[in-house]
Amino acid sequence: MAVTIRDNLSPIVQEPTGPVVRNEVGHPSFTLTMDGKTVQAYEGQTLLSVAIDNGITDIPNLCDDEKLEPAATCRMCVVHIEGEPRPLPACSTAALPGMVVTTKHISISPAISN
Ligand code: FES
Repeated sequence: MAVTIRDNLSPIVQEPTGPVVRNEVGHPSFTLTMDGKTVQAYEGQTLLSVAIDNGITDIPNLCDDEKLEPAATCRMCVVHIEGEPRPLPACSTAALPGMVVTTKHISISPAISN
């Protein structure tokens, strides 16, 4: 049986990875792919917000309003995320590093009409 000894005295060494780009409130940035383009996003941003920030403004949305609590009820903004079994609402799905998102996907249309 292996015994692990935890050493709390050694400093954690991290290799510098270059300057981290942050938004105005200090959230670090990362990239993901949206409709085949590499786009920049910030921690805590929704996919709808990332899309708008990067010029993808044709995702329909109805219930996303900054004056309202996030409800994600209308499902007009659904997008396809690689690896997810179903389309997810862009207005309430957090952007994550390395995501591959398609906003115009043939299997999304039936999801909107149901
Ligand atoms: S805008 Fe209504 S679910 Fe996203």
